[in-house]
Amino acid sequence: MCGIVGYIGYRPAAEVLVDGLRRLEYRGYDSAGVACTNNIRLEVAKSAGRLDNLVKELAKRPLEGQSGIAHTRWATHGAPTDINAHPHTDCTGTIGVVHNGIIENYLELKAWLIEKGHKFSSETDSEILAHLIEEFAVSSVGGGSGDAHGARLYKALTKALSVVSGSYALVVLDQHQPDLLLAARQDSPLIIGLGEGENFLASDMPAIIKYTRRMMVLEDGDVAVVGREKVMVQKLDGLPVERHLFIVDWDPGRTEKEGYDHFMLKEIHEQPAALRAALAGRVGFDTGGKHLPKLEQVLPASVAAACREAVFVAAGTAYHAGYLGREWWRRWTDLPVQAELASEFRYHHPHLDRHSLVVIVSQSGETADTLAALREAKRRGAVTLAVTNVVGSSVAREADYVLYTQAGPEIAVASTKAYTSQLACLALTGIYIASTRGEMDQNRAAALLGELLALNGVMREMIPRLEPEVREVAVEWGRTADVYYIGRGLDYPLAMEGQLKLKEISYIHAEALAAGELKHGTLALITEGTPVVALATQPQLFDKMVSNIKEVKARGAEVLLLTGENNRHRPLVDVADKVIYLPEVDPDLMPIIAAVPLQLLAYYAAVNRGCDVDHPRNLAKSVTVE
Ligand code: AGP
Repeated sequence: MCGIVGYIGYRPAAEVLVDGLRRLEYRGYDSAGVACTNNIRLEVAKSAGRLDNLVKELAKRPLEGQSGIAHTRWATHGAPTDINAHPHTDCTGTIGVVHNGIIENYLELKAWLIEKGHKFSSETDSEILAHLIEEFAVSSVGGGSGDAHGARLYKALTKALSVVSGSYALVVLDQHQPDLLLAARQDSPLIIGLGEGENFLASDMPAIIKYTRRMMVLEDGDVAVVGREKVMVQKLDGLPVERHLFIVDWDPGRTEKEGYDHFMLKEIHEQPAALRAALAGRVGFDTGGKHLPKLEQVLPASVAAACREAVFVAAGTAYHAGYLGREWWRRWTDLPVQAELASEFRYHHPHLDRHSLVVIVSQSGETADTLAALREAKRRGAVTLAVTNVVGSSVAREADYVLYTQAGPEIAVASTKAYTSQLACLALTGIYIASTRGEMDQNRAAALLGELLALNGVMREMIPRLEPEVREVAVEWGRTADVYYIGRGLDYPLAMEGQLKLKEISYIHAEALAAGELKHGTLALITEGTPVVALATQPQLFDKMVSNIKEVKARGAEVLLLTGENNRHRPLVDVADKVIYLPEVDPDLMPIIAAVPLQLLAYYAAVNRGCDVDHPRNLAKSVTVE
């Protein structure tokens, strides 16, 4: 959690840094700060609350200098106050540090530093880093200025890192060394952007893509010395390493709102394009002209053939995608398939071996719980496949195989296009595995693939048609306290996703239930006017769903029913208060289509209640703490 930016070059650093923070706000937004150095002193500005507070502060007291560091915070240790905001400095106020992660042994290190005479200003774990560097720089032999000082600072940093345990991505700025930034990474993402006469550091690419597309991802245990012209990466023990340089091919405009009120709405509308991108180059034709999955480059057929079980592991929305993946793979293959919450995975003592395929689903590829689960799966000998959106992310680097969702940058905290792209990838992989193993008939595989490819067009036509209808319902939910989402079969994980979307951005309490479970307890909560969203996209379960809807209607619920066009002929006026008809696609793929009105429902409910849609309270996009 938290976002870091670093800059060294020829531009006014504070401007570049604040611009970068603006694009990283999704990573945390309870306080922000900047430090710059102008050769004479290191100046810091920080402010609790949203980034605009810091901008106001900087307007009153601009920071000079062409090198600097900045941070947007999601509090873990210490309340979101001015004092606890980063950058943190040492006792002399000449060494500044921004940090993302958690220093687990900070209490004992803090006690040791206090004994040595260090004075702390904040309650954070991060501040100890500045003091440790100060302590080790003072105690190290040598000194002087220029290169010698830089070498001493570097040594002090590596010594500090050797005594801390926990996770970090950090950048250090020293007033006496304005020509370099030091950076390090362990279990938290950090990227270097390479420019001409300038270089950048950031937690994520959107922060710096406006300035450069040439990126380098630091790996765990890396320490980097970043100057204006040169970047040097070493391991903690001093061994130099080369890191792969790659060119990001997104258009920087994709990290702007482009006329939409919120990133979330823009990303909802980007789903047809994202679906198309997820499948691009991954579906081909056999000699008879039938569609075939082309995933050998991602997952060798030998792995699919050797697989004896599959387990999806993920968190939040990605878990809901994995849950739907489980349902698909169970239907299409003969494999036993499970879906596990990443944060719980380790406690279930999973019995895995080299015939187990563990599919790690993560938009960011940096979620701490998910990364820990991936490591556990590898430790237990499983084969791992990452389905992720972020190229070079930790999950992508550590898994045996990677399938990129190719959805493009997702900025809103609430995941939308990443989710439907994950679904497309999981469906595609399921079809690939099933047909490789001879468990799915080639005609069925070809038909499903054809439908999958056509989904983007269906969605493109559907979104503008359904948006006004959905918006109307959302406005009616103005004062609603609770909403229940019910569904059976494939509609149950869809209900889970619908309720999460609503909760996280509108703060309306919502609950998802397998429709048949209602009568086992929760039905007691349904009273006059309680909104219930009934999902009935599965023809073979429609009648059973109608019975469940009647159960809630009989208790006074206001029912919104989402179902396929084919049900338009049925007399549903007595069943539901409002029906939204979805375009018909293969029933197995209906949940991909149906996810969109649920996202819009949550979006407009949140807007109607005046919520800050892109920055929901207490949340951040990338959860890099356990
Ligand atoms: C989605 O709307 C959420 N904000 C959240 O549940 C998210 O899906 C979860 O934190 C997992 O993130 P990841 O996909 O980046 O691993």
